[in-house]
Amino acid sequence: MRETFLVQTVLTRDVSVAAAFIRAGGIVAFPTETVYGLGANVFNKNAVAKIFEAKGRPADNPLIAHVASIEQIEELVTAVTPTAEIFVKVFFPGPLTLVLPKSHRVPLIATAGLETIGVRMPRFELAHQFIKACRVPVVAPSANLSGRPSPTTWQSVLEDLDGRIDCILQGDATQIGLESTVVDCTGEVPMLLRQGAVSLRDLQAVVPETIEYTPLLGATPRSPGLKHRHYTPKADVVIIQTLESEMIIPGSAYIGLDQATLSQPISHAKVCGSVEEYAHSLFEFFRECDRLNIDTIYCEEVPRAGIGAALMDRLSRAAAE
Ligand code: TXA
Ligand code: MG
Repeated sequence: MRETFLVQTVLTRDVSVAAAFIRAGGIVAFPTETVYGLGANVFNKNAVAKIFEAKGRPADNPLIAHVASIEQIEELVTAVTPTAEIFVKVFFPGPLTLVLPKSHRVPLIATAGLETIGVRMPRFELAHQFIKACRVPVVAPSANLSGRPSPTTWQSVLEDLDGRIDCILQGDATQIGLESTVVDCTGEVPMLLRQGAVSLRDLQAVVPETIEYTPLLGATPRSPGLKHRHYTPKADVVIIQTLESEMIIPGSAYIGLDQATLSQPISHAKVCGSVEEYAHSLFEFFRECDRLNIDTIYCEEVPRAGIGAALMDRLSRAAAE
């Protein structure tokens, strides 16, 4: 049992060192353009089990398989549906995950018992090099302890998983900062399951019939991950339009776009120059607030357009606790 988690976590910038751990059945955190992932060889059941154990991830939450080539997609799925083919052409490599019917080679532990699998081809060069060097598709959830904000720096991976995983491939902070868009391509029409940097409008521009999934009350969610706790700092998250002076009390923090906040006496604030920067900074800001024992984080509301839709999705989930 790895219950005591006495693994020595190796830090490296060398793709071949990190990939050797995957080929030996280990688990490795690596950067992508969205967030850091915690990877294992998709075809190795024991290695995949270690991911669930290290993260404390519920066994009913399926993993995304990451590929470095189109050929690797064919190892994972029984069919690339016509709409999925269009999305692959337009958005791969990039921050988009397509859910497709899985091939029998993929163990059910990787998909949490589902007959479908999420497939994504990261566009971040270091991720691409790493997956290529692994020579197998790499299943990877975000490299955080279950329930915590996804890590966007290797230091945050270390904070959560030191001693629990074999290796961290060190790269820069991730560019986008929010997890990939997830689209189910197994049905009649593509269904957006999770918002990300590829927006509903981007998807509809190439496949107009794409719809957004809205869970019916009490029904089993299509994307099992959606029912679990997510993205949450220890502090209360409160979504606001503007920071009012009475909100500024000891133990409160602010993140948003409002430059006027810079002149306010709030002890911890991050004023972003754009919605993209806001999205990129959010999870790391949540973690900083935890380190500072902040009680309440005020987060400015943004229009639900472009990456703003994904940002508001994560903020609403964090605020719903
Ligand atoms: O950007 C990302 O997607 C990052 C990086 C590492 O690639 N990964 C990531 O993985 O965010 P994770 O496990 O934290 O989130 C995966 C989401 C979950 O909501 C899960 O339920 C959904 O994708 N998902 C995975 N496979 C699925 C499937 N077969 N059917 C429906 N939803 C699926
Ligand atoms: Mg996650």
